[in-house]
Amino acid sequence: MDLTPLLDDRLVLVTGKGGTGKTTFAAALAALQAARGRRTLLCEVDSQRPALDPLVGREVTFAPVRVADRLEAANLVWPETLVAWLKRMVGMERIVRAILGNDMVQRFLDFVPGSQELVTLSAIAEHVERYDCVVVDLPASGHAFSLLDITRSALGLFRAGPVRERVLQLRTVLEDPRTRMFLVALPEEMVVNETLETLARLREHALLGGSPVVVLNRAIPPSLTDDERTLLERLSAAGLVGDAEEFLEAGRWERASEEAVAEAAFRLGQVLGVPPVLVPPAPAAGRERDVMRHVAVQLGRHMGVPRQELAWI
Ligand SMILES: Nc1ncnc2c1ncn2[C@@H]1O[C@H](COP(=O)(O)OP(=O)(O)OP(=O)(O)O)[C@@H](O)[C@H]1O
Ligand SMILES: [Mg+2]
Repeated sequence: MDLTPLLDDRLVLVTGKGGTGKTTFAAALAALQAARGRRTLLCEVDSQRPALDPLVGREVTFAPVRVADRLEAANLVWPETLVAWLKRMVGMERIVRAILGNDMVQRFLDFVPGSQELVTLSAIAEHVERYDCVVVDLPASGHAFSLLDITRSALGLFRAGPVRERVLQLRTVLEDPRTRMFLVALPEEMVVNETLETLARLREHALLGGSPVVVLNRAIPPSLTDDERTLLERLSAAGLVGDAEEFLEAGRWERASEEAVAEAAFRLGQVLGVPPVLVPPAPAAGRERDVMRHVAVQLGRHMGVPRQELAWI
């Protein structure tokens, strides 16, 4: 799968099942964009435990902080995101404070389904106006989808007025061909199932302009030769014991991993029309930043960004 089109994107929304590598890939992608000369914002969405801090090596706040040349990071924390929205919609700081102090407004925000999503999406879109590229570390797929889908339900809810106007603007941002979802999957059946579901929903609702990209993370590229496979079969039948049995077990484990990767790549490829990008596991014992660097180098190969250009991450 060719990843060079990502270098023209304005908005890359990274999601996937929990623990697949979303944050790592979002950070790596942002680093690649910046390395290619684009003013880039790496953004996370009100996470309970800030995930970007250890990767960028500093505290990430609502107001974007500088991370490296052309690269900034922000955390869309609540309620700062809400204040920004109200300022945009109401204009005057004093009125915004009064609104925030109003119980009814608080209750509205707590109970109207999707109001937080709408406000968050609006903040993301505002950043898109200011940077060449915004890479968002979204929550896991289910929640990420409701964040995008809110524009549909909101149009039903707001028949006229400034909120509707804003929702229409947000839809334009999402429908831009330079807005894309970047899905991180693992070579595991359940994860592939969820990835396929997300792809199906994306297609069904036609929410985003750009076509989705899927990576298969922690995927060991096939290395066993046919001869080695035959040997493995023969030795398995031989009833080995002790050390020999342990070596054999390692061989079987490798074969099973390769088969899982092949199976996952096949299933995803059938739906995507092209095989997914395989990203091998980082060397063991690496810190989170080392893993991010490893992922950036791997993705860089598919984006035409050589390792030397990533020297600073
Ligand atoms: N290719 C890889 N090789 C080795 N370790 C990896 C790889 N990709 C990610 N990891 C590690 O897996 C862990 C989870 O990654 P990450 O935090 O990016 O996932 P996530 O999808 O953002 O998780 P969450 O759903 O909790 O937000 C991290 O420790 C990360 O360093
Ligand atoms: Mg994360």
